[in-house]
Amino acid sequence: MKERAILIVILSALGMIANALSDPEGMISHTKRQAPNRLVFAHFMIGIVSNRIRAADYDDDMRRAKSLGIDAFALNIGVDSYTDQQLQLAYDSAANNGMKVFISFDFNWWNTGQASAIGQKIAQYASKPAQLLVDNKIFVSSFAGDGLNVAAMRAAVGRPIFFAPNFHPSYSTDLSPVDGLLNWMAWPNNANNKAPTPGHNVSVVEGDQEYVRALGGKAYIAPVSPWFFTHFGSEVSYSKNWVFPSDLLWYDRWKEVLGLKPRFIEIVTWNDYGESHYIGPLNSPHTDDGASKWVNDMPHNGWLDISKPFISAFKAGATSPNDYITSDQLIYWYRPAPRNTNCDATDTCMVQANNGSGNYFIGRPDGWQSMKDSIFLVSLLTSPATVQVNTGGSAYAYEAPVGASSREVPMKVGTQSFSVYHFDEHHNPYTPDQPTYYHPMYDVGVNYHFYIDIHSDRDIFFHHLYT
Ligand SMILES: *[C@@H]1O[C@H](CO)[C@@H](O)[C@H](O)[C@H]1NC(C)=O
Ligand SMILES: *[C@@H]1O[C@H](CO)[C@@H](O)[C@H](O)[C@H]1NC(C)=O
Repeated sequence: MKERAILIVILSALGMIANALSDPEGMISHTKRQAPNRLVFAHFMIGIVSNRIRAADYDDDMRRAKSLGIDAFALNIGVDSYTDQQLQLAYDSAANNGMKVFISFDFNWWNTGQASAIGQKIAQYASKPAQLLVDNKIFVSSFAGDGLNVAAMRAAVGRPIFFAPNFHPSYSTDLSPVDGLLNWMAWPNNANNKAPTPGHNVSVVEGDQEYVRALGGKAYIAPVSPWFFTHFGSEVSYSKNWVFPSDLLWYDRWKEVLGLKPRFIEIVTWNDYGESHYIGPLNSPHTDDGASKWVNDMPHNGWLDISKPFISAFKAGATSPNDYITSDQLIYWYRPAPRNTNCDATDTCMVQANNGSGNYFIGRPDGWQSMKDSIFLVSLLTSPATVQVNTGGSAYAYEAPVGASSREVPMKVGTQSFSVYHFDEHHNPYTPDQPTYYHPMYDVGVNYHFYIDIHSDRDIFFHHLYT
């Protein structure tokens, strides 16, 4: 199948982009003083950045994340030959930019029999200035890892650690030796790592409840993710092809965590392009794991911008982001083709492939029926506005209130256009603050380069979904 793109566009009605380097002073004194109570992490895949050669290659990620209010990157590591070199560069860049980092051991690659090796790896980086400390302990996390001998690992570190791995209460793991837990399941699911089906339908909030109950007051790292789509076929050994329903998830989930008030939040992820849940920029240097087919020219920076007022609200203990919206923005996203459009014959998921993981499906990704053929819009406004949407010839207009709000309109094949009108004191609409953007939508294979040619100089973002 050719790429099936989703298009994310951010229309900045006031043309204001937050200064990426604002308030470095406040941040530094904050982290020096004492580990703050509420922290936001972003999961960062070291496994796809082997092409970085100097600490400065990490600087843009560090600064951008910090400007959003993200406190630390969870550096996901496997056992690749370049892992130590990259960890060194990431720790150095973080130190240079007033950011914090910690290691997140990925148990797809590490195994639970390696408690001492893991402890030694933690010790190797523990004294670096950028190491995140929580309650004066070295912070450490994981992806999976149930069954690890935590006591043996702690002994091998030889210093106090704050261990908050992604263990699973449902596996009956002994949770007494952990200080907290990360829940990875940031998407509605069927309790078996796939999209919900009738009768097997677990919400993200139900996952929160399971973890909070199991933790009995220990620290919870609540996941927040915008999307999940992966579409690897026979071209790789790790064939996998599914979606989780994600439509307005990024917006809805942020509202949920403001209500939940966990001690920690982890954004899943900064740069996992292969599963499409990255919010970091596409020009963040990385290698191609095969995801470029659906990722190229599909930046997600609009989602990054949505998170900013929510992160500020979370840190302040507020349940609404509205007091933290400082410029007017409309962010919208949609797939460039209806979900019923099938893969074409050139698609690498149209043939049998390795299904040892149980994650491979032929044709459209498993779960495709769970997505809606809608355009999703989030407005962040300092004054009310009228939003106009024209999708394939069908026009919609609605009043968007002050603050953050979301909207869904049915999507139709054809040209898409969006505009925002503010009102004068007599309630007459101003003309749009910025030009209306037009984007085509097709019901057959999409040439995504068309988009970037037109809009590469603007905050307009695209995301392939599926074909
Ligand atoms: C799962 O539950 C949600 C919330 O009730 C609902 O919107 C969705 O349609 C359900 N999905 C399936 C496949 O039953
Ligand atoms: C791969 O395995 C999963 C889980 O057993 C199954 O549901 C799916 O149909 C399999 N895919 C193929 C292409 O056989």
